[in-house]
Amino acid sequence: YPLKNRHSFAIDVFAKQLTEIRSLADLALINWSNNTYILGEGTNTIFTENFEGQLLLNRLTGIEIEETPEGWHVFAAAGENWHQLVVSLIELGIYGSENLALIPGSVGAAPVQNIGAYGVEVARFIDRVDVYDCKLHLETSLTHEECQFSYRDSLFKNPDHRQWLITGVHFFFPKAWLPVLDYPDLATLPADATAKEIMAHVIQVRQRKLPDPQIVPNAGSFFKNPVVSNEQCQELRRKFPLMPYYQQPDGRCKVAAGWLIDQAGLKSYTVGGAGVHSQQALVLVNREHASGQDILHLAEGIQAQVKARYGIQLEAEVRLLNGTGLLNP
Ligand code: EPU
Repeated sequence: YPLKNRHSFAIDVFAKQLTEIRSLADLALINWSNNTYILGEGTNTIFTENFEGQLLLNRLTGIEIEETPEGWHVFAAAGENWHQLVVSLIELGIYGSENLALIPGSVGAAPVQNIGAYGVEVARFIDRVDVYDCKLHLETSLTHEECQFSYRDSLFKNPDHRQWLITGVHFFFPKAWLPVLDYPDLATLPADATAKEIMAHVIQVRQRKLPDPQIVPNAGSFFKNPVVSNEQCQELRRKFPLMPYYQQPDGRCKVAAGWLIDQAGLKSYTVGGAGVHSQQALVLVNREHASGQDILHLAEGIQAQVKARYGIQLEAEVRLLNGTGLLNP
């Protein structure tokens, strides 16, 4: 089974076994093994070589909306497209997700890495996540607290729960809506901007900065923005006064990895067919027939140079796979 069109980084590799999950009945038939991997739209996963195990493609669909005096309960099956859901909700007058427009991928992938952009993280709207344990063949549902959401992280990334297939996500969007306009990219919008205007603006900013995977294959931000101690942050700011950083509630600092890479002069860095995107250095791209090794070497080169220059170890944000499973947890 070719994987080139099943992951947005479009590396030309193959999977030995591939099963589409369209119903709960399909789930009952799964024979889980240690080499089974669950994939949504493949926009945050990079296959660096042929996959020797079994791939499960989550294609569960369906959306249900229920209105209450306080807001809307929205259930979306995991195989729904995230951006389509955002567009539908905003058109229906259900606001909150507008800052998260145009994030590639499926609804089921959204809680896994707690997708976020322009000052909003999806966790804010998640009430519960329904999962199917493919090993024990049991359905369960996790509360918001149980999901342990944090910056680009959740319990679903824990390797102990690899056999959990997310079947659907329950959201709540309160009627009391306030725009979130603190992020610098949204600063030009008026304080009374509507959700529709915010969504249109976010789409514009993303189209300007981020490469369209249909044209230049990529998987969005390749690394996470590192969180460092306040001390280390102050020290870095003495050396690099223009370095963007975001103070965290716990006193630590989140540093812009894209800036670190850019300022290290790595925007034109290429290894084979893989390179750094010219408008956004946090995004690595498949310029021309990149191999899995090209991308791994490029990433390691960037990590080494960032470490040498700033003393910061960058961690991958994308999920990298070898022939049998995840390279990074
Ligand atoms: N910057 C540079 N040069 C670059 C890239 C960035 O100087 O080449 C500077 C920017 O000028 C800005 C700062 O670094 O001052 C941060 O850049 P940006 O606002 O573009 O966002 P980011 O921190 O690089 C994060 C998310 C994105 C999300 C944007 C907007 C992560 C890992 N990435 O990127 O999410 O769209 O914020 O909220 O947190 C993704 O996760 O795949 C993704 C695209």
